[in-house]
Amino acid sequence: MPDPYAGLSTAMRHRLDGLLARMTLEEKAGQLSLFAPADAASVNPTGPSLGEAAQLEEIRAGRVTGLFNNHGLEGKRRAQETAVNESRLGIPLLFAADVIHGFHTIFPVPLAEAASWDPSLAERTARAAAQEATADGFRWTFAPMVDIARDARWGRGIEGSGEDVLLGCRFAQARVRGFQGPRLDAPDAMLATPKHFAAYGAAEGGLDYNTVDISERTLREVYLPPFRAAFDAGAMSVMTAFNEIAGVPSNANPALLDGLLRREWGFGGLVVSDYTADEELVAHGIAADARDATRLAFLAGSDMSMQSGLYLRHLPGLVRAGEVPMARLDEAVRRVLATKARLGLFDHPFRGLGRPGTADAPRPPDAATLRALAREAARRSVVLLKNEGELLPLARDGRRLALIGPFIDSEFDVLGPWSLFPRPAQGIGLADGLREVAGAGTSLRLVRGSGVDAPLPGGLDEAVQAARDADVVLLALGENNAMSGEARSRTEIGLPRAQQALAEAVAATGKPLVVLLRNGRALALEGAVRDARAILVTWFLGHEAGPAVAELLFGVASPSGRLPVSFPQRPGQVPYYYAHKRTGRPQPPEQPEAFYKARYLDSTHAPLYPFGHGLGYAPVRYVSLALSSGARLSWDGSLTLTTQLRNEGAREVEEVVQLYIAPRRASVTRPVRELKDFQRVRLGPGQVVEVQFSLRRADLQWLGPTLQPQAEPGRFDAWVAPSATTGLSTSFELLPPGH
Ligand code: GLC
Repeated sequence: MPDPYAGLSTAMRHRLDGLLARMTLEEKAGQLSLFAPADAASVNPTGPSLGEAAQLEEIRAGRVTGLFNNHGLEGKRRAQETAVNESRLGIPLLFAADVIHGFHTIFPVPLAEAASWDPSLAERTARAAAQEATADGFRWTFAPMVDIARDARWGRGIEGSGEDVLLGCRFAQARVRGFQGPRLDAPDAMLATPKHFAAYGAAEGGLDYNTVDISERTLREVYLPPFRAAFDAGAMSVMTAFNEIAGVPSNANPALLDGLLRREWGFGGLVVSDYTADEELVAHGIAADARDATRLAFLAGSDMSMQSGLYLRHLPGLVRAGEVPMARLDEAVRRVLATKARLGLFDHPFRGLGRPGTADAPRPPDAATLRALAREAARRSVVLLKNEGELLPLARDGRRLALIGPFIDSEFDVLGPWSLFPRPAQGIGLADGLREVAGAGTSLRLVRGSGVDAPLPGGLDEAVQAARDADVVLLALGENNAMSGEARSRTEIGLPRAQQALAEAVAATGKPLVVLLRNGRALALEGAVRDARAILVTWFLGHEAGPAVAELLFGVASPSGRLPVSFPQRPGQVPYYYAHKRTGRPQPPEQPEAFYKARYLDSTHAPLYPFGHGLGYAPVRYVSLALSSGARLSWDGSLTLTTQLRNEGAREVEEVVQLYIAPRRASVTRPVRELKDFQRVRLGPGQVVEVQFSLRRADLQWLGPTLQPQAEPGRFDAWVAPSATTGLSTSFELLPPGH
């Protein structure tokens, strides 16, 4: 088993072991028990929670290892002073929070930020979030969420990086680096927690918390790599998932936790349960009662219990009864103590808690810097799906604009779910953003026209009239932030009917439509929304949502986002993802109507908008694609793919050049394409740019029939493309060993 004290000095090791030797069974169980205090931000099922006085009593008794999502510095400071100065052993508390996409300054939701295809941007926003959160006393974040999500019905796709493994890995690593910074004991470092281990996004039917029943191959090739990437980036804690995998709940899964995570991967960090996930083993039907659930979860490898209090209540008795070895208990406690030591808590327990005279308290960047980063991230997360007749960008002189729909202003939170401590409480909505950016001569008429999921009396008539009086109509449609996130799966991934009716009525005026989607998932676009001349995917963009969208609409900046999830043709075409298998009867792209092929009776199986798709304000042509070394990749060599792009427009554009590969044949079936690399390049008007990718055998490996990574010599197709269904194609040969 990995050394729980890895990286700690000899002196610290002795100090911790000295503490451990003095701890009672109850104090050991206390170090494994994490709670949300009464004043915690309400993002979980409400349950009984102690008032502050009772909580301080528990802390004084050494029965609490940390608190999460609690407000305010004073409360944290009182709790820490109680732990350090009044408990028997003075072990400091660890304060955690769900810092998912910003702390006080809210950035785009992670799925939106993944649309930037710029992991370095995600690293910067995670770093900024950590700087703000550590200045508020938090040193542990329950992020990044790294669950691959391929079913748009699932509400939590909004928290991750979409459907693709490579993109998911790159963003997982970037966010871990951002949260943790270069040194975990730095004042502004936050312990990162990739979650939810594992395969939470594979819930059947996209139904949150539902059964996951996938093959070990799919688990290892799709859902586990982003966790491995996060650990490779230095993540030192992980959160278990609520769901079972093939009959075994993740929080009590010895093969997953003790076997794969600890022994196979050598993970030496802390495993924390999700919120009452141990207690839920009774509901899963694999634990007879809370005591049994404690035993199963702890022995499987879940070190710390979140919120249920089960470890506090039952671990001492289980150890006394010989059902849990003391050595296992000590191992988990060592990992918790080591985590606190790595964060510098034993030497600086009050850092960031606003205690006068505390050395080197973290200082976040100034508000203007944070708002500028939020606006940059928002701008770069927007995806332009369509722009017929170059309707966009809009001229800023004297146009009559009608902004219509339920999301015209910041009444509906642009901050998205998991914005627990926003300052200010609302972001800048579309109307305010347009007013800020539009030219003086631009007139802007605002009409709500419809509710989010219910008509407004007279709304359609008012909207139609406003459209008739306008030159261009901006339709602000989609989901509010209560329609995505935890426990928010939807059977319907189209727009609510009331909004669709609004779009149809406004479209009937014949005025040019620009649809601005607010969404936490891929949506199935239909009718007038689908047929609008321009469509922008604006997700939940955080505090600077409105100005960022306005800057793109008026061409102050150009859209550069690319879809991290496929947009399906129809609501029923889920799960849909680009890296699907061929099947034995693939639908021939050139014969979409062919029968007896893998397609629906009522729909092609191609996406409406593919993974990786997105437009700028200038067309980019992929001119040429050449391979080095005679299109042959030697077993131990590398192959260079060189492509030339040309900006055929009059404006600068940012292009995300994507490299996909697929073997012609393999010992196991492989996806029709797999993303292997991508590069963002900027092209001025008329500019030709050369982009190179390099491939080695290691990039072409998969799990063979016995689930061992292997490369197989043979012919491969390769695409250099602007999306998962387009691009220039070529092929090359991977030569056998020795060639
Ligand atoms: C929730 C979520 C998890 C979150 C935790 C604490 O149920 O599943 O992502 O970090 O509880 O709020």
